[in-house]
Amino acid sequence: MSKATLVLVSVTVAAALAACGPPHRDVPAGEVPKLTSLEHLMDAQATIADPQMKKAGAASFTDEDYAAFAEVSSRIQATSMKAKEFTKGPDFDKLADRLHENAVALGKAASAKDQKASSDSLAAMKATCKECHGKFK
Ligand code: HEC
Repeated sequence: MSKATLVLVSVTVAAALAACGPPHRDVPAGEVPKLTSLEHLMDAQATIADPQMKKAGAASFTDEDYAAFAEVSSRIQATSMKAKEFTKGPDFDKLADRLHENAVALGKAASAKDQKASSDSLAAMKATCKECHGKFK
């Protein structure tokens, strides 16, 4: 093994160890139609939504937070609709629709810079992820 290869291997191993949770998949809303599996779609949802859903319950948000919530809103609106192409039945579709509603509500709350409504929408979104995983994952 060359020295360059060794360096590359250690960097890759370090990156793998640093990344906990689902694979990072940074997919802008416009690219969502290109997703080819529910697993990749879910990874994209987690990549954008997990760091923001953690902020549910916070006493205040910054302008950067509201901008990030708006981005979650637009991406999750796209992924929740796309998810129905990988449907597991009517109950699955209902939960996908609910996730879409949660995303719309978050977008409204973020553009109004409404702390309470943003926090509530993030919590509602988290609950929808959890409910669907309880039933279908
Ligand atoms: C409509 C149902 C539904 C909703 C809503 C939902 N999920 Fe999922 N999720 C699933 C199913 C089904 C799987 C298993 C998919 C598979 O591996 O094929 C899954 C798997 C996952 C995975 C594991 C993917 C992997 O790499 O194996 C992650 C991460 C995830 N979901 C994140 C989320 C997040 C974050 C939300 C909310 C923003 C969410 N999901 C909302 C149904 C849902």
